[in-house]
Amino acid sequence: MSVRRLAEKQPESFEFTPQNKAWLEKQIAKYPDGRQASAVVPALWQAQKQNDYWLPRAAIEKVADTLGMPHIRVLEIATFYTMFNLEPVGKFYVQLCGTTPCMLRGSDDIIKVLERKVGPQRQVRVDGLFSWAEVECLGACCNAPMVQINDDYYEDLTPENFEKLLDDLAAGRSVKTGSQTGRSGSEPEGVLTSLTSLYGEGSK
Ligand code: FES
Repeated sequence: MSVRRLAEKQPESFEFTPQNKAWLEKQIAKYPDGRQASAVVPALWQAQKQNDYWLPRAAIEKVADTLGMPHIRVLEIATFYTMFNLEPVGKFYVQLCGTTPCMLRGSDDIIKVLERKVGPQRQVRVDGLFSWAEVECLGACCNAPMVQINDDYYEDLTPENFEKLLDDLAAGRSVKTGSQTGRSGSEPEGVLTSLTSLYGEGSK
């Protein structure tokens, strides 16, 4: 379980950009009068995206003021959900799944690559490009081990293909999301062993 604390170093203020303000007004308008608090999660998410993928206290309070909510209620939400980062992250923020299926398929070896190339978890690399954290299951267990980097999943990782992925991202080269071993979705790695005919054996 990760520690959920606000960053020690905080900016003085936070304002939504005009575009994000307009976007947020549209989200709020989806809800009946008096229910604008229902937009709190998308509002926090947009604030995080605007602020290089982390939420300072000023952004949390801005969301609360915009939605007419007590600051503490929005603080509770921001500190509860691990999708909200409470401290600065790298340009490429790697969330590594260390839950059982990923662990059994080699996530410890992926951690070693991260420690060697990025450093300790929850610290931004000196060039600002990377930071990483271990998280719980991200729901792609069939393609374990896997990581999420910003909004995308990278699956079927090995130390070799993961190291190359980090190098490609750092160099600004285009990378492929999803399976890194070329399989389609979460189909079997070898030949199909089930659902090999439309109706199954014995059907007419
Ligand atoms: S255990 Fe890693 S994605 Fe589910």
